[in-house]
Amino acid sequence: MPILSAGVPFGEINTRAPALSHLALSLTQGCNLRCLHCQVDAGSTLPHEVTTQQVFQVVSQATDLGARAVSISGGEPFLRDDLHEIVGYATSRGCRVSIETNGTLLTDALLQQLTAVTSSVFLSVSLDGSRPMTHDCFRGVPGAAALTIKALERASTLGIQLQVLTVLNRMNLEEISDITKFAHGLGAEHRVLILQDIGRASGHSDLMLAPKELQAFFDRFLFPEMRRDRLPDGSVRNLHVDLPIALLPPDLKARAICNWGYGLIGMAPNGAIGLCHRVLDIDDLIGGYAGERTVREIWESPLFHRLRAFDGRGLQGVCSRCLAARICRGRCRVNAYHHYGDLDAPDPICQSFYEAGLFPSYALSIEEKG
Ligand SMILES: C[S@@+](CC[C@H](N)C(=O)[O-])C[C@H]1O[C@@H](n2cnc3c(N)ncnc32)[C@H](O)[C@@H]1O
Ligand code: SF4
Ligand code: SF4
Repeated sequence: MPILSAGVPFGEINTRAPALSHLALSLTQGCNLRCLHCQVDAGSTLPHEVTTQQVFQVVSQATDLGARAVSISGGEPFLRDDLHEIVGYATSRGCRVSIETNGTLLTDALLQQLTAVTSSVFLSVSLDGSRPMTHDCFRGVPGAAALTIKALERASTLGIQLQVLTVLNRMNLEEISDITKFAHGLGAEHRVLILQDIGRASGHSDLMLAPKELQAFFDRFLFPEMRRDRLPDGSVRNLHVDLPIALLPPDLKARAICNWGYGLIGMAPNGAIGLCHRVLDIDDLIGGYAGERTVREIWESPLFHRLRAFDGRGLQGVCSRCLAARICRGRCRVNAYHHYGDLDAPDPICQSFYEAGLFPSYALSIEEKG
């Protein structure tokens, strides 16, 4: 039985619920693209996705608990015709709103609708190739790149805060540096994600890079580029990579470690509320459903007590030997679950580096080194 879903006694640590800071929403399972790698296997909408009123209610309950950041994802969130209303509502409740999108639906009219309800929306737009063909092939729809690039340019002209998201894979390895230049030219941050072998990606092992190839790329391009962009305190300004803390060189500060259990709660498109917005059908990480239980009830439920009591002990694989485990807590439990089918499984990226002999020895406990 996984520790996260059972054995940790309640109340050992943090018996009182801390203030909630971040509500993550996945608003639809529907998508207009067919990306080869899609971790959520998006395509058709679910038969019963959360209604506008249910989303308002969850936002209202979350802000009553202290949430001041709302992030929106999917599927493709711009397929929802109430998106601007949801953004407007969250803004009126005092939240900063960020949206992850493939950018293909972002017409002038939509962008203007968005800027009319908030002056401070943050858009994360996915771009996976500097050559349109690379992006279109990865994203499964010809012409997608042209629409996304146009949307990025429009949004930049309107002064919207932007981030370009790129999933590093075998097809675009040699294009990352040009995407970084393009993003920075627009005044956008560039955030590089590592391809997770889950969802539709697990049917495309040809896209996955081996740890050795990833490490070579980090050493040749990514880390030197991040160092050029580094501020005196070690944080990096406009180029980020979603790597586990142990795999980042010590002179580059991790931007943020996911605060699951402590500051974050999420809702999936079916109204399931739990650890984050990707809990859709992971019963052990769901505390209840919108309309049936309030966010407060779930935030103060045994599930969240258990999540907060979890201090990294009990994780398996390399995470059980890692000196960063108490603060990192094995990173994304949803990725670990989808990869290994177990909530206590190690982080798949760290585990693959460990098995390849590339996990940094300074991050391992003494017993392991000896
Ligand atoms: C699930 S999508 C939802 C938002 C929007 N449809 C989009 O594509 O940006 C959010 C981000 O997750 C990334 N993503 C999807 N599948 C992934 C995988 N297997 N590994 C890593 N990132 C993935 C996407 O490329 C995108 O940047
Ligand atoms: S990654 Fe985004 S755009 Fe691609 S299929 Fe998944 S949800 Fe759609
Ligand atoms: S080995 Fe596990 S605990 Fe250590 S940095 Fe990687 S994910 Fe975090």
